[in-house]
Amino acid sequence: MEPFDLLITGGTIVTHEGVAKADIAISGETIGAIGAPGTLGAAKETLDATGLHIMPGAIDVHVHYRDPGMAHKEDWDTGTAAAAMGGVTTVFEMPNTFPPTATPAALADKFERAKTARVDFGLYGLLAEDNIDQLEGLIAGGAAAFKCFMGNTTGNLPSPSTGAMLEGFEIIARHGHRISLHAETASIMAWRQAKLMEAGKNAPLDHLAARPAIVAIEAVQRAASLAEWTGARVHVLHISSADELRPLREAQARGVDITGETCPCYLMLDTDDYARLGPVIKVNPPVREPHHKAGLWAAILDGTIGLVATDHAPHTPEEKRNPDIWEAGAGFPGVETLMPLMLNAVAEGCLSLEQLVRISAYNPARAFGLAPFKGRIAGGSHADLALFDLAAETTIDQAKLHSLRARITPFHGKRVKGVAMHTLSRGQFVMKNKTLVEASRGHGRSVHRLQSMPAPKPLRVEQSLSHLLGSSRADGTTLADRKA
Ligand code: NCD
Ligand code: ZN
Ligand code: ZN
Repeated sequence: MEPFDLLITGGTIVTHEGVAKADIAISGETIGAIGAPGTLGAAKETLDATGLHIMPGAIDVHVHYRDPGMAHKEDWDTGTAAAAMGGVTTVFEMPNTFPPTATPAALADKFERAKTARVDFGLYGLLAEDNIDQLEGLIAGGAAAFKCFMGNTTGNLPSPSTGAMLEGFEIIARHGHRISLHAETASIMAWRQAKLMEAGKNAPLDHLAARPAIVAIEAVQRAASLAEWTGARVHVLHISSADELRPLREAQARGVDITGETCPCYLMLDTDDYARLGPVIKVNPPVREPHHKAGLWAAILDGTIGLVATDHAPHTPEEKRNPDIWEAGAGFPGVETLMPLMLNAVAEGCLSLEQLVRISAYNPARAFGLAPFKGRIAGGSHADLALFDLAAETTIDQAKLHSLRARITPFHGKRVKGVAMHTLSRGQFVMKNKTLVEASRGHGRSVHRLQSMPAPKPLRVEQSLSHLLGSSRADGTTLADRKA
């Protein structure tokens, strides 16, 4: 038998099902074997993971890497370096670049730019009023998913009419790609913003006033109806309010294939942070009143919100600090801080480690067609792994972000427990010992081919993790267990 390429020993594996001490052997790009500590034999290289937790690399289905058109904010090299540093091994990149990813030619151009990617990626195609005739071509060209802007945000892409959305949903439904929605209704926001501007209002909280939760409730409800009618799979991006969970739950209960995501800012910040952060807190949809946070956490625990994502939205510090809230950049980089922030939430008892794997890797892989290649630690799956020291603490420092031109985050100065130590993408280190592996530039590949590939055959020993779990439940307790 060929020796394995890499053996990871002494670590604690975390999957969506449980936590267990086990060794992992990697052959080429995939996991060759998982076994009880010390049982897997020799390999060409060994990584001692004693004291570390090994999780499936996070899959962030919501990043903006800005190239083409806005590379003064971010590009594929810096954006995927930030992902690698944060334990994120797959990203889905948004089409609100300039020009937008609305045609096969624009998509092909973005694939060229993405050649510097350090981690795997999917490209979103745009679903807009004027490109319905391009959707089939975008699918043929390798779009991994679609994005529909129901409301105005960075890039100022006009939101499609409900008629155009319906036809777009019909076309995409035939292929099974998921359609991610910026679910805020444009006309309500435009109306309110005009009135607020007329009255001379331009403070950070006025941005929230222009976008009350009804904009999200209305949009989620409408999109869910179109999804139900057409059979399209849809995904509600950046859920910011407890209120939009009602139409989401109702649609899920009716069997609509509708998933939802929230982001750390909606789980961890609220209106009490506006005075301290000023325009830096500006994001679409806005950070809301304190009570929404509890509703969002409850929706994570009951499965209504199945994914956590970052909405990684880099802007320069100057763009972010514009004192006129209508002009300030909306959003902030997040792909590098996602897992430290969420692991800190685990340390605070908000969710269990398994639940975090479920929302950061397992569910995103299933929702976006990447299972069983990604999102799990199992024989034959990609060796996309993130190794964390859960006992280590650090302070988030925006000056150290790898989004070099967008070093500004509302989480600057926050103390977190949970530090990313190593990241592997398909068996290759992209971060090692908290240091970016320079040679990882260009390692990333588009995931769109995985979406139609037959499941991999497990290599060599596929020892079920559930079996290993039998002997070591030690730190695998869930919040529910702890409350009981
Ligand atoms: C995003 C961006 O800057 O591209 N900004 C944001 O505030 N979330 C766009 C978006 O996701 O709406
Ligand atoms: Zn959005
Ligand atoms: Zn976004």
